[in-house]
Amino acid sequence: MAKPLPASIDDTLELLARADYVAERSLATAVFLSLKMGRPLFLEGEAGVGKTEIAKVLAHALGRRLVRLQCYEGLDVSSAVYEWNYSRQMIEIRLAEAEGVGTDEASGRRRERIAQDIFSEKFLIRRPLLQALEADVMGPPVLLIDELDRTDEPFEAYLLEVLSDFQVTIPELGTIRAKEPPVVVITSNRTREIHDAIKRRCFYHWV
Ligand SMILES: Nc1ncnc2c1ncn2[C@@H]1O[C@H](COP(=O)(O)OP(=O)(O)O)[C@@H](O)[C@H]1O
Ligand SMILES: [Mg+2]
Repeated sequence: MAKPLPASIDDTLELLARADYVAERSLATAVFLSLKMGRPLFLEGEAGVGKTEIAKVLAHALGRRLVRLQCYEGLDVSSAVYEWNYSRQMIEIRLAEAEGVGTDEASGRRRERIAQDIFSEKFLIRRPLLQALEADVMGPPVLLIDELDRTDEPFEAYLLEVLSDFQVTIPELGTIRAKEPPVVVITSNRTREIHDAIKRRCFYHWV
């Protein structure tokens, strides 16, 4: 079953040490507060200092699923959040055509039903941000948004929205909201400045 969150900073230090993760007290403090307050942890620092590793360690130590969004230039909603399974939708349409769709009233209703059906969850491909909103018996997953500095500002703005209310809106389906927010770890190698609005939402730590 889901493991309890660390109860104190010392507890957090111990949890990290047990996973062979070497952490200063200041980092353990940021981790503890972020878990306690349910706010994202924002880790910035040089490459190779253990930013990505801490998300893996946390997921393992808390017994949670790790959902990783690796950022890169040009990352968009269809890779980060969801996209429609276009080829399966096409097959569905072809099958309907093969059954014969005429111009009478019954055919009109059938056409409408197909149009609705191909935009149901069955044809939805869930990308990491959407996966992270899904409930899990082991408790909310750890969402690692890795190397955010590689994306561009429009994506950052979108992310800010997702992080404020842990919901995404899919026009054809409606709004999908997390029952319990995921544990969020954001990392940046600081190849560029991340907007203050994101940092303000998080517990920030320079590793
Ligand atoms: N504080 C640490 N404690 C234990 N291992 C570490 C620590 N920092 C880095 N490492 C190790 O170094 C490697 C690189 O760390 P990583 O998390 O990928 O760095 P970053 O994401 O900051 O670039 C990992 O394999 C990790 O095991
Ligand atoms: Mg990394």
